[in-house]
Amino acid sequence: MDSTRFQRAAEILRAAQRIAVLTGAGISAESGVPTFRGEDGLWRQFRAEDLATPEAFARDPKTVWEWYDWRRGIIGKVNPNPGHMVLAQWEKKLSGFKLITQNVDGLHARAGSTKILELHGNIWKTRCTKEETVAENLEVPLKQIPPACPACGALLRPHIVWFGESLDPDILRRAIGASSLCDVMLVVGTSAFVQPAASLPLRASAAGAKIIEINPDPTPLTHYADVSLHGKAGEILPRIDQILSLPS
Ligand code: APR
Repeated sequence: MDSTRFQRAAEILRAAQRIAVLTGAGISAESGVPTFRGEDGLWRQFRAEDLATPEAFARDPKTVWEWYDWRRGIIGKVNPNPGHMVLAQWEKKLSGFKLITQNVDGLHARAGSTKILELHGNIWKTRCTKEETVAENLEVPLKQIPPACPACGALLRPHIVWFGESLDPDILRRAIGASSLCDVMLVVGTSAFVQPAASLPLRASAAGAKIIEINPDPTPLTHYADVSLHGKAGEILPRIDQILSLPS
């Protein structure tokens, strides 16, 4: 890919006062976390309606938990990649930086990012189906499937937003705010298929922000992008970072 696009992306980022980043499963692909709709994506192997809906959980919480336990097993063995690391660095060095992720894998936090809006929840958290209390659980494998609430004994569920469920209104409000106010939105590794996440870059673009997309493949957002960098996030983000050469 010619370097002018990288230069252009760096220029836009350098000039920005407020930067918002939206990430999807693609940023964790190079760490070894399966995406959802890619070649060996999870939704190619499994039926979402059997595993990632409140109805599926009501029907068969054990099978749902066995699947999440399997995914936690994969994620627990991998590490953040250079793509995650660069974004964690930029949070510290670039002004008005906001990170919005669809990922539940927790790799942004492990890379050092602290200001993260997790739109779809977190696979390392559980929620009590009776008291709604949210707690961290890092057991791999889970000691008990399905796990029970240590306080009241009720069934725990993964603290994940399933298909057909609404996002946390406070997190969504803040993501919409960051999207509407940013000067540039970097969209990394998402097929831009799932709403409301996929509409955030459109809000940013409609509010006058520049869009920089990083993805090996074109997406419905490519049309709106001022700069499209077709490649892997773990390779492209470090290259932009090099050009930016921010003081350490
Ligand atoms: N770097 C950047 N992008 C990549 C890479 C990579 N190394 N590898 C794959 N991609 C791109 C793919 O081309 C694809 O466009 O990442 C995207 C992954 O898309 P999906 O698998 O659809 O994942 P995502 O967009 O995050 O899914 C959104 O759907 O299933 C639900 O809740 C789940 O959060 C998820 C949501």
